[in-house]
Amino acid sequence: LNPNLQSRGALVVLEGLDRSGKSSQCSQLLSHLQSIGCSAELWRFPDRNTAVGQMISAYLSNQSNLDDHTIHLLFSANRWEKRSMIEEKLKSGTTLIIDRYSYSGVAFSSAKGLDFDWCKAPEIGLLAPDMVLYLDISPEKAAERGGYGDERYERLDFQGKVREKYQALHDASWKMVDACLPMEEVQKKLREYVLECVAACKNGKALSHLWS
Ligand code: TMP
Ligand code: MG
Repeated sequence: LNPNLQSRGALVVLEGLDRSGKSSQCSQLLSHLQSIGCSAELWRFPDRNTAVGQMISAYLSNQSNLDDHTIHLLFSANRWEKRSMIEEKLKSGTTLIIDRYSYSGVAFSSAKGLDFDWCKAPEIGLLAPDMVLYLDISPEKAAERGGYGDERYERLDFQGKVREKYQALHDASWKMVDACLPMEEVQKKLREYVLECVAACKNGKALSHLWS
């Protein structure tokens, strides 16, 4: 171990369409990490608890209408308001599992027709995840899972567009996991990836920033 390298927690992001199983997989991952003595927390975006988050929540539940650019910037602001807390957590050695991040921001807004690079711009400078785990599912299969809820974006045709945008965003650092596998198998794969990532960060892997 190089003594100049800083040991820290890992920043792991789960992404995928609505109903891809992210939230359940995230909580199982968290329990697993904690059960093996790894300091870990589960966060999510949007974080609906802040003032900005409440505006986002009202928009998603159709209680308010906002210009597409405006809501895009609010989603981004919601990550910026947590940026320093994320960094502190990681530096204190806690691993963060985050349910959605900047990739959701870009995929959902650009699927509405906003310019792809314009959507990426406000995310520049946020901490880059050490690993992105993408739970891949077709919108048709996702819709079969008890159907979508009532929130904005939870429509089959729109989810198809979001999936195309996710495909344009993903790079070699993403781990693609077939979300249609049995839940336990998905979890097994996710655990393997996450443990690998946690070890790398413990051994001094440097933090980086979007978009890298
Ligand atoms: P949730 O279902 O994970 O709470 O997310 C709510 C919706 O918000 C979901 O349809 C994805 C969308 N979303 C964005 O449009 N932009 C973002 O930056 C994030 C984090 C989520
Ligand atoms: Mg949802």
